[in-house]
Amino acid sequence: MAIGIQRIFVEASPNYESANRAMTFYLDILWRRIAAAEAASHGGAKWLDVCSGTGEMALYLHKFGGGKRNVAALDFCLPMLDSAASKHDAKLVSFSLANATVLPFQDNSFDLVTIAFATRNINLSRKAITATFGEFHRVLKPGGMFLNLETSQPESKLLKRFFHFYVDNVARRFGQFISGSKRGYAYLSSTVRRFYTADELAQILKEAGFKEVGFRRLMLGVAAIHKALK
Ligand SMILES: C[S@@+](CC[C@H](N)C(=O)[O-])C[C@H]1O[C@@H](n2cnc3c(N)ncnc32)[C@H](O)[C@@H]1O
Repeated sequence: MAIGIQRIFVEASPNYESANRAMTFYLDILWRRIAAAEAASHGGAKWLDVCSGTGEMALYLHKFGGGKRNVAALDFCLPMLDSAASKHDAKLVSFSLANATVLPFQDNSFDLVTIAFATRNINLSRKAITATFGEFHRVLKPGGMFLNLETSQPESKLLKRFFHFYVDNVARRFGQFISGSKRGYAYLSSTVRRFYTADELAQILKEAGFKEVGFRRLMLGVAAIHKALK
């Protein structure tokens, strides 16, 4: 499974950011910035962005942390990390090529762990997501915060139908056209429909050992930011 996902992101990497902008009408930037600002307000010195892709979230964390935090970024797709490392300010972030499900860090290492638009891609099974969240919990220090930004399911049935229709028929085609990756964007858009509701994801975080789990919906539930403490 992981190799298949890795291939999808290798294929998608050259135009990954342009595809996101087209599919979300630039809302992905706004949502990442909101999430990074909320995450940065937690404080602490050592921060980790997992499944960092082209490093956008990690670079916002660096910026919102006033350049004073030690920000690490991890992904298992080398072309994505190459793209991140080529950015201005990237030298201020340390990059690791590794699998998010088996983090190469000791227990209780970080004050903050973030993930943006990637939980859906790691593995959709409830057991696998709980185990991966457990891995994020392991590397957090006691009192450390985990923040998850991801697509979600709108509560309104009408909006949910419209959202799924848009993702399946419009966003998917934008992604395929811009990236040239038919298979990749067919898979990525299919995971939006299959992902958990905000309430279900909060429950999974609790099962993974987190406490004080809370979330807020963005754009009536099209996306959500979950926050939880170790
Ligand atoms: C949709 S992109 C999101 C990238 C970035 N966080 C963003 O906000 O744009 C998903 C990223 O997760 C990475 N990824 C997926 N599964 C992973 C895993 N098990 N371990 C490490 N990285 C993974 C992919 O390589 C890809 O770069």
